[in-house]
Amino acid sequence: MNTQTESFLQQGAETGTGSWTEVGLPRPHESAVLHVLGEATYTDDIPELQGTLHAALGLSQRAHARIRGIGFDAVRASPGVVAVYAAADIPGVNDCGPIIHDDPIFADGLVQYVGQPMFIVVADTHDNARRAARMATIDYEDLPAILTPQAAKQAQSFVLPPMRLARGRFKDAFDAAPRKFKGELYVGGQEQFYLEGQISYAVPKEGQGMHVFCSTQHPSEMQHVVAHALGLHSHNVVVECRRMGGGFGGKESQSALWAAAASIAAARLKRPVKLRADRDDDMLVTGKRHCFHYEYEIGYDDTGRILAARVEMVSRAGYSADLSGPVATRAVCHFDNAYYLSDVDIMAMCGKTNTQSNTAFRGFGGPQGAIAIEYVLDNIARDLGTDALDVRKANFYGRDDAEGRNVTPYGQKVEDNVIHELVAELEASSEYRRRRAQVQAYNAASPVLKKGLALTPVKFGIAFNVSHLNQAGALVHVYVDGSVLVNHGGTEMGQGINTKVAQVVAHELGVDLSAVRVTATDTSKVANTSATAASTGADLNGKAAQDAARKVRDRLAAFVAQRHDVPVSSVTFAGGMVHAGGQTLEFPKVVQEAYLARAQLWSDGFYATPGLHWDAKTMTGHPFFYYAYGAAVSEVVVDTLTGEWKLLRADALYDAGNSLNPAIDIGQVEGGFIQGMGWLTTEELWWNKQGKLMTHAPSTYKIPGVSDCPQDFRVRLFKNSNASDSIHRSKAVGEPPLLLPFSVFFAIRDAIAAVGGNRVDPPLQAPATSEAILDAVDAVRSRAAGA
Ligand code: MTE
Ligand code: HPA
Ligand code: MOS
Repeated sequence: MNTQTESFLQQGAETGTGSWTEVGLPRPHESAVLHVLGEATYTDDIPELQGTLHAALGLSQRAHARIRGIGFDAVRASPGVVAVYAAADIPGVNDCGPIIHDDPIFADGLVQYVGQPMFIVVADTHDNARRAARMATIDYEDLPAILTPQAAKQAQSFVLPPMRLARGRFKDAFDAAPRKFKGELYVGGQEQFYLEGQISYAVPKEGQGMHVFCSTQHPSEMQHVVAHALGLHSHNVVVECRRMGGGFGGKESQSALWAAAASIAAARLKRPVKLRADRDDDMLVTGKRHCFHYEYEIGYDDTGRILAARVEMVSRAGYSADLSGPVATRAVCHFDNAYYLSDVDIMAMCGKTNTQSNTAFRGFGGPQGAIAIEYVLDNIARDLGTDALDVRKANFYGRDDAEGRNVTPYGQKVEDNVIHELVAELEASSEYRRRRAQVQAYNAASPVLKKGLALTPVKFGIAFNVSHLNQAGALVHVYVDGSVLVNHGGTEMGQGINTKVAQVVAHELGVDLSAVRVTATDTSKVANTSATAASTGADLNGKAAQDAARKVRDRLAAFVAQRHDVPVSSVTFAGGMVHAGGQTLEFPKVVQEAYLARAQLWSDGFYATPGLHWDAKTMTGHPFFYYAYGAAVSEVVVDTLTGEWKLLRADALYDAGNSLNPAIDIGQVEGGFIQGMGWLTTEELWWNKQGKLMTHAPSTYKIPGVSDCPQDFRVRLFKNSNASDSIHRSKAVGEPPLLLPFSVFFAIRDAIAAVGGNRVDPPLQAPATSEAILDAVDAVRSRAAGA
């Protein structure tokens, strides 16, 4: 027993639970030491097999054009080139789309965005492949291109039919409302900017087999896509991922192109082929967070309570559907955020544009849905001259049935609402009211520098909004020496899923965490897995691994009970020991004896989230297993002459339920917060008039750096236990914290409003770059002067 375990045993005794545990402890990430030493193996670090070749993609230079012909002579003549393959060379189906099959691997006769892959060049080195890929001569016939979501809406150019969720009678309620306004808002997209770019290493195996090492959140889907592209059955293809250097949604579906292209080349050449995108190509080729444009109409009363809300949102889907449909659905289901909306009409359109096909990104449309209602509430507060926090509180979902304000627009009852208590706790701990008065006093005395303060809440639905995806499987092997190996369907992208799943298994078997090891995700071990996404990875795979571990433990308990002639119920597993009728046996000893007695020491496990249903036509049902809650307070100072700003202090309180690992969860909240802040402030995607993304490298695309983190950053977990029967009553933490920095955006808006006496709405769009801030300052100044 190590000292940590000992001290926890004592702690348990003190609290009277007396129970040994491995969950709920702030364990370090299982790869922390390897990360720091540079020994963690990413796909590009796997030792290359003899004969390995390197590939690069040839990309379209036009936003929308027919391809009359491609000349490959110069490519083939380029140094080191071994082969060039295009659409006609694909053995199976030319498609890598996740839902609707409108995503060619290689453009065939038509290109639909600048950066679309048209062919793959295979060479002896990565550099030679990249150089050669630029040497094709392409005969384009340009076609008209649509470049913005607004233009797509105007042209009624959509990748999917528009969707609509309406409840109550918006029009009557709007007409009758004593106060009302209309407006619009634009919120930009965001590049995932995983540190490890997209990569696949395809290794041909005997009898048409293909083993693909792929940086992906979705090994099973990569398996299917590769099998389709090669014209094979799934059992011929193995996809493996030990870890990603970040995914953030960008490797949920869009790892498919790289996996398929590398596999096609490897299958044709019967040699291992590695395809690794450099940063510029990665940003030019792959989809990002969808930018959204909103038009809204809002009716409300003198207390700031919303009586009627209508919104039309159009996203930039890009040239194909990808995951734009589910993203829009989640946006629709998060327009309410933490607020009850009685009479509401929400429409969402996925604009088809000649740009990258946008995809999953942390929050998956949830942030885009919720920010619109927060913008509206901010306007209401300014109109009434009330603190925005009070307007927000007036609109919160009710605490219980008695209040009659706890059913979402899509019909799911909010049964686990803790937003009132959580916000009250944060309001007090952050000294919101005192700091509000300080900010006002500061601004009254400061003509150029203006401070702003905002508290924003989050309610986020946990589950895939496509019900059948909420399932997972796992394998637990206990070896004869008592060591434990776990394999599950989730993928590690830095979020700590393997640490959490190992803790769950250690807990079930009553062994120290150091006895448990989690191996690479592998489609030949656990079949038909869902993407590690929708923040459900630890929830689903934790439950599946718990199921597997319990089966092994039950067999061990039955064996011990029989051997020592004690009731099974008296056999307990704790601290690496097995306790049975007054005897204490070492876990490895018990395992060894059980093996000799021919007990099965390994098991599979399975989990399917109960109680979910969803009617996509009416957009109603019970799509979420539970809600995660949180809130944050941010204080900023803005230089109204330069548009520069600084986050002075941020306080975040997040409901991780009974956290499986508070250290990892706090890291997730911090990371999500800073990533969301980047989205809403400095990260700007900019396409030129020809539709080329010009911000395709860190030189022009500014993600937050360590110096952008607030000096004073107070992140805490809210004490709560999941009302739903989740794994150890914990709650998901991956995505919801991305919405916490809404408070940064609205604090900046608050500071800008101070130049106009806090009564004029700053027309601030996201991202609030210095340029956008200055534009908003100018607008407020001139409106305030004109009024
Ligand atoms: N954290 C790190 N370090 N790296 C990532 O790529 N992805 C986020 C989040 N946190 C991500 C991350 C996204 S988009 C999701 S959906 C969840 O992790 C997925 O992991 P989980 O479901 O196991 O929490
Ligand atoms: N999140 C991530 N991926 C998804 C979802 C979701 O809600 N629904 C379908 N795929
Ligand atoms: Mo996360 S966007 O669901 O991968």
